[in-house]
This record gives sequence, C-alpha cells and structure tokens, in this order.
Amino acid sequence: MIEFDGVYHKFSTKTSELQVLKNLSFYVPKSGFSAIIGPSGCGKSTVTKLVAGLIKPYNGRVLLNGEMVQTPRSNIGMAFQNPVLLEWRNILQNVMLPLEIVKNNLTDLQKKERARELLNLVGLIEYENNRPSELSGGMRQRASLCRSLIHQPEVLILDEPFGALDAFTREDLWLTMSRLRETGSFTCLIITHDIREAIFLADEVIVLSGRPATNQFSIKTEKENNDNLDQLYTPHSTKLLNILREQIKLARKNEMVER
Ligand SMILES: Nc1ncnc2c1ncn2[C@@H]1O[C@H](COP(=O)(O)OP(=O)(O)OP(=O)(O)O)[C@@H](O)[C@H]1O
Ligand SMILES: [Mg+2]
Repeated sequence: MIEFDGVYHKFSTKTSELQVLKNLSFYVPKSGFSAIIGPSGCGKSTVTKLVAGLIKPYNGRVLLNGEMVQTPRSNIGMAFQNPVLLEWRNILQNVMLPLEIVKNNLTDLQKKERARELLNLVGLIEYENNRPSELSGGMRQRASLCRSLIHQPEVLILDEPFGALDAFTREDLWLTMSRLRETGSFTCLIITHDIREAIFLADEVIVLSGRPATNQFSIKTEKENNDNLDQLYTPHSTKLLNILREQIKLARKNEMVER
C-alpha cells in the first residue's frame, strides 16, 4: 500500500548538496501500521513529505496503492508534533476543515455528524464549541487527529504527533490512536522518537540508519492486542525494546563514524 522502492533524496542549495535518503525501501501493507525510528536529522520527516507528494525523490519510486506519487494527494491525512488549529474556528469547525478542501458529496449535516462521531471517539464531544486556546495540548492533539481522519483518508501519516506531550497524556493518546484504528480502515505510518510508542502502536518497526538514511533494521511487533498498556511490560515487549534500543545505538554510532 505504501511502498518505497530504492528511494534516494538530496536537498541542494546554491553551494552544497545534502544526501538525506540512500536506497531506502520498505512496504506498509493495506490497513497496516508501521513505525519509523532513527537518529535525529536522519531524514524521517523527509520520508513523510515524499509519501504526501510534497517533494519528489531524485531516484527510486514512492508508491501508494501501486501508483507512483508525483503530486500532493488528497487521500492522505497528516498530523504533526504541534497541531495547527485555527483560533477563529471552534473545534467542530476545525475538524471539518479538510471537507472544505477535499472534494466530497456530503451535506453539511453529514459533515457535522462525521466530525461529531470522531470527537466522541476521542472524548472531545463536549468541547465542539470551544476555541483551540481553551483546550490543553493533549486535547488539541486529539482534535488534530480527528481533523486528519475526517475525509476518511486511505493513508495516515503521523510525524511525532505525541512528542510534545507529557508521558501520561501521551499514553492516553496511544489508546485513543488504537481506538481510531479499530474504527477506521487506514494504512498508517508513524514517525517517532519513542521506542515504546512504536512497539505499542505499530505492527512493524523500521529503524533508519544515520544520514543518509537507509533501512538498517526492521522487526514485526507481533503483539496480542492493542487496547491496554500492560502489554508494554511483558517479556516480549521488553525484548523488543532492548533490540530496538541497540539498533538506535548502532545507527547513532555509525553516523558519528561517517561524519
Ligand atoms: N527543505 C530542505 N532544504 C534543505 N535541507 C533540508 C530540508 N528539509 C530537511 N533538510 C535537511 O535534511 C536532513 C533531514 O531532515 P528531516 O527533517 O527529514 O530529519 P528528521 O529525521 O525528521 O529529524 P528530526 O528527528 O530532528 O525531526 C536534515 O539535515 C535537514 O537539515
Ligand atoms: Mg522530523
């Protein structure tokens, strides 16, 4: 469903060139959920921009549903570390925003119904008339997740969406995310610095090497269920955590050697 096939990317300025991705290949199956972790600055956000069609690879192929991504796509939802909500709109109107941009045949009532369904799912239904500034950071991020899913995208891209939240709120949002996954049918790619988050949410964790980033390692998480946090403390999860921590150490060490 999301496929990177030997992707290279570099950023060029007038005076220099920065090689960011080097022969990166991975595959996220339909309705799958993969996490990408890797050292800071290695090229993770660049991967999300390539999936969204905001930039093009200079070599290799980025495919969605088997089709090359050449231009920005409307069947994608995105959420980032700092949710940008519009202060002059209330929460319901913020969540409905993509439906004003992406073509659809929904009536106003249907749009509202869909937005309310999502707000209900993330526990924000009582705040639909509030302004973004009246919400906490965690609540704003919940609203942002609803907004990224309102147009029922086939692909959801999350770039460190919970990075700015405190540990307890973050864990709450992991549970919210699993609920959203159960009720939706999207394919998801999450970028994160948090190994436990990757293990809890994803079916597969992909570790990128230092820049230029390529796939260094990947592992299927093979968990029983996704609806309680206790599973993060099982011997299986602890083993995954240790393996992934070692891989990140290795990526950072190799990066230092290359520099
Ligand atoms: N538009 C751009 N023009 C030039 N260089 C860029 C551009 N975007 C990113 N870069 C550079 O490419 C490299 C990878 O950036 P990217 O944002 O993909 O890293 P990242 O892995 O997401 O980092 P972090 O973990 O800190 O979020 C960085 O060195 C960055 O400075
Ligand atoms: Mg980034």
